[in-house]
Amino acid sequence: MTGLKKIKTAVFISGRGSNLHNLIKFFKTKKSPILIDLIVSNKKDAIGLKYAKKYKIKKKIINYKDQKNAEKNLLLTLKKRKIKFICLAGFMKILSSSFIKRFKEKIVNIHPSFLPKYKGLNTSVRALSNNEKFSGCTVHYVTSKLDSGKIIMQKKVKIVKNETSISLDKKIIKEEHKLYPAAILKIFN
Ligand code: GAR
Repeated sequence: MTGLKKIKTAVFISGRGSNLHNLIKFFKTKKSPILIDLIVSNKKDAIGLKYAKKYKIKKKIINYKDQKNAEKNLLLTLKKRKIKFICLAGFMKILSSSFIKRFKEKIVNIHPSFLPKYKGLNTSVRALSNNEKFSGCTVHYVTSKLDSGKIIMQKKVKIVKNETSISLDKKIIKEEHKLYPAAILKIFN
């Protein structure tokens, strides 16, 4: 796709940012339908913010202590920058339903489980304590119901004997890095 046609996208993070980094590398490729124009973090010290500097992408820190104001302010920035698509990548805050409505079917999330199993937090720990045979990762649309929007793509990850939540998380994140770009291609192609 040519630069002009690419969809202006914001990536929301809260921490390490490995999915962000992976999406940045993806958007630099010719086949990417998106252009990452903004990185949003609810934490000013999120490790992933280093990629804003490294790749010269604008960043915005939001303070979720006052969610209403934070989202109001954020909506203004998104409008100003003509952002048309949002990727949540380890963003650990729940967006308000009014915010989600403003970007209806334009917000996607990656989640570290094979949804609808294990919505919410500590997905690998819970999968292991339930003796599951597999977990996985899912890219889905964001709706006001947590981790419940329409599934775009998902991938299973096998749980082996003596698996720990650390080893499982490692296998899942590896799959996430393949799945997120593939899901974005699926959405726009
Ligand atoms: C990823 O595993 C992602 O699926 C998960 O947080 C991790 C972020 O890693 N997201 C959620 O749990 C959302 N509820 P990253 O910062 O290295 O991309």
